[in-house]
Amino acid sequence: MPHPKEHEITPKSIYSRRHFLMGAGATAAATMLPTAEAESVPIEYPGPDWLRGPLSARSLDSSGLESTPYKVATQYNNFYEFGTDKTDPANNAQDFVTDPWKIEVEGLAAKTGEFDLEAIISRLTLQERITRFRCVEAWSMVLPFIGVPLREVLNAFEPTPSAKYVAFETLVDPEQMPGQRSRFASIDWPYREGLRMDEAMHDLAFLAVGMYGQALPPQNGAPVRLVVPWKYGFKSIKSIVKIRFQEEQPQTSWNMLQPQEYGFYSNVNPKVSHPRWSQASERVVDGGLFPSRQPTLMFNGYDEVASLYNGMDLKKFF
Ligand code: MTE
Repeated sequence: MPHPKEHEITPKSIYSRRHFLMGAGATAAATMLPTAEAESVPIEYPGPDWLRGPLSARSLDSSGLESTPYKVATQYNNFYEFGTDKTDPANNAQDFVTDPWKIEVEGLAAKTGEFDLEAIISRLTLQERITRFRCVEAWSMVLPFIGVPLREVLNAFEPTPSAKYVAFETLVDPEQMPGQRSRFASIDWPYREGLRMDEAMHDLAFLAVGMYGQALPPQNGAPVRLVVPWKYGFKSIKSIVKIRFQEEQPQTSWNMLQPQEYGFYSNVNPKVSHPRWSQASERVVDGGLFPSRQPTLMFNGYDEVASLYNGMDLKKFF
């Protein structure tokens, strides 16, 4: 696994300082931060017109976590559509066109069809969530996402009671996405993911349009991605163009590729090893030369989701 080069990993100091203060438990103060403070965050990627400028999120976050430096979070990525090396997405996605952006909604819902992302998101109140993010490759970051609870978006389409799962797909556009042109690509595009409906409706399931106080950079899944913090990172599908409500469990890309290694559920679980490595601990990717390791927590520390899996053998449903 390649490591980011040292010049690429200088902390984005202004953001870190602001979030260190917020993380120190100063949530009440943080929610009252004047916009001027947010404006001091340099804009690295302009984002779609309707999101341009600092995003004013009503911060509900009180996690006390300090965010990974911006440069690390935006230059050490998995986004196979833009290449398989960790630095490929940052290098190859900069001209990715993310505005206008449409999402097709299909399947078991009263409201289906094609919708503008702007229309879906702009009627909702943005929130910030400073989120532990654990990749199945046994590294982790803390990412300050901005977006809306997935539930608020899904409910607007009025899924029917027979919808037991929701499936997501990423854009297919080989012209813009060099990873999709590669003869060596192992993924059968589009990149696919899915959740059980009750998982998707849980408050922690999040649809992000921003991070670090601004629009999502292309390499992090612009203009809209899933964030499912209690599951391995590959469930958090990027650049979503399709949402489908269905009765059967959806096919998901990594499970299609290696079913014995990547399950549908993929809840973070230190007790269930990947066939080729342990999941008991994780490397903290923070840009330091000597990365530390920390123990991995069940559900990535988000115990509030445990009741979703009552009575399930999580070794079997990994
Ligand atoms: N979504 C798509 N469409 N394609 C991908 O290759 N990689 C996944 C996930 N979402 C991926 C994707 C994996 S393996 C991880 S760990 C996270 O995105 C990485 O998100 P980040 O680069 O923003 O940290």
